[in-house]
Amino acid sequence: PRVAIVFGGRSSEHGVSVVTAASVLRSIDRSKYEVLPIGITHEGRWALVGDEPARMAITDGRMPDVDQVAESTEGQVVLPAAPGNREVVWSEPGAAPKVLGEVDVVLPLLHGPWGEDGTLQGLLELSGVPYVGSGVLASAVGMDKEFTKRIIESLGLYAGEYTVLKPREWESEAGRAAARERIAALGLPLFVKPCRAGSSIGITKVKDLADLDAAVEEARRHDPKVIVEKGVEGREIECGVLEFEDGPRASVPAEVLVDGDFEFYDFEAKYIDSSEVRIPADLTGAERAEIRRQAVEVFEGLGCEGLARVDFFLLADGRWMVNEVNTMPGFTPISAYPKMWEATGVPYAELIDRLLAAALR
Ligand code: DAL
Ligand code: MG
Repeated sequence: PRVAIVFGGRSSEHGVSVVTAASVLRSIDRSKYEVLPIGITHEGRWALVGDEPARMAITDGRMPDVDQVAESTEGQVVLPAAPGNREVVWSEPGAAPKVLGEVDVVLPLLHGPWGEDGTLQGLLELSGVPYVGSGVLASAVGMDKEFTKRIIESLGLYAGEYTVLKPREWESEAGRAAARERIAALGLPLFVKPCRAGSSIGITKVKDLADLDAAVEEARRHDPKVIVEKGVEGREIECGVLEFEDGPRASVPAEVLVDGDFEFYDFEAKYIDSSEVRIPADLTGAERAEIRRQAVEVFEGLGCEGLARVDFFLLADGRWMVNEVNTMPGFTPISAYPKMWEATGVPYAELIDRLLAAALR
């Protein structure tokens, strides 16, 4: 089969997506799949890129981007909508369109808005091209921390204490006053987050209400909708879910051990400092069974397909709190998702193979 690997994109997680794509380009079984790498620039232009994972790495603490591997960023990739026609067309301004050939399946390795949030999935649905992972609705819900929590709560699971600042609320003095009151009632510390973003970008830990406004402004640089969560005491545990022929299964869980230099698992701690991820997490048999059960319940409750990583806190009182769902988790060399599956008996190449097979079913 011919696989279009799409990565980069307009979100603040562009660089993470490029590193994810590099890992997949290195590990995908070339005897089985023909690969067509397609990048999306920060500006949203589609680019033909070389198959050069070595150039798609973090160097000196700097994230890579699509422009540095693009062969051409002038044109546009067009996925035609005619049923049965899965040809990818590359058009350059003033030139005849170039047909890149037929694609059997798209692997949308995009993190964050405009890629992991149902938008690209909608384009692929319109074009009739099969793709890996969740569809439009589950992708959109998983990207939005407010709606994710609402679904989690509707399943009878715990999603923590939080309040949402609607986009217009922060724009009037009365709205800000009402929001500050709700936020103060949560107690400290707080985590102020863009509602629709990932990789901890735009998140501030607030330990003093005097710092709240600046934290909200920072989150609003990424999303006009902001969510404020009460910080919890607990262990940060993640669980991978993967769709097999007979349904979704959960991986062995991983525990995030944030380096003591960091207040929380922020972007630096994740990708630059490479905090340790312990796999398997040190849990009792009952705890392990419970997190795996909840991870699959959340996956099915959101209507996810293919894959997801569900992130939890194991609270000091023994309860599990579902923190968030990632419908396209990172696949970088330090990412927990592929490592958790490796530890569960599914090596990296087989993981990619299973994801593509599920999309083609
Ligand atoms: N949002 C990042 C890529 C993750 O969840 O792994
Ligand atoms: Mg997380």
